[in-house]
Amino acid sequence: MSGTDGQTALFADAVIGPKRPLLKWAGGKSQLMAVLHRAMPREFSRYAELFFGGGALFWSLGLPGSLVADSNPELMNFYEVVRDAPKELLAAVRGLPITKDDYYRIRRLRPGKLTGLDRAARFVYLNKTCYNGLYRVNRDGQFNTPFGGRTDVAVLDEQDVQAASSLLRVPIRMPREPRCDQNGLNARKGDEAAPERRCGEEP
Ligand SMILES: C[S@@+](CC[C@H](N)C(=O)[O-])C[C@H]1O[C@@H](n2cnc3c(N)ncnc32)[C@H](O)[C@@H]1O
Repeated sequence: MSGTDGQTALFADAVIGPKRPLLKWAGGKSQLMAVLHRAMPREFSRYAELFFGGGALFWSLGLPGSLVADSNPELMNFYEVVRDAPKELLAAVRGLPITKDDYYRIRRLRPGKLTGLDRAARFVYLNKTCYNGLYRVNRDGQFNTPFGGRTDVAVLDEQDVQAASSLLRVPIRMPREPRCDQNGLNARKGDEAAPERRCGEEP
């Protein structure tokens, strides 16, 4: 089965993922799924999604045993929390009121001073309630997209989070350098053994 509505699984060991990506993300590939599926090789040893973003292709393939990475630390922290603490994340998000004042209060919180759980809740809350789902940071790395204006937003769908959590039982990596090669991570020449940075660690 596939996690994408109305599509048939490409691979026998695929599992059901969320119906749609958990985040709005620029450059998401949801609209291109049929084309991407046609272009997939039918046999390979391991699927590595190194530019994860909203993960549209990853969710639609539903392949356990994959590897995922992205250079955005907020994004990778979010997916780690989805994987490790889905119920706690849903509860934390439910505790965040959606009003203009609350939006700016929550936006002012500094992610580095929050627990991984609160940081993930803040991240998805801002992603769903900001203007156009646009992830934009200033020179200091602070999220600065304005409020989107809607207060009736469903920030997270419980079933989708649980499905995503099951499928994300995979290594989640963030490259030390914002570079990946096609074999894996940390593609700095002569430094293949450099460890990946854990989400939330300062460079
Ligand atoms: C367009 S999104 C990916 C869309 C996604 N693969 C899908 O199926 O919808 C691109 C992502 O690549 C990440 N990215 C950009 N440059 C990167 C790099 N050099 N290494 C790792 N991730 C990178 C960005 O943070 C962004 O989240």
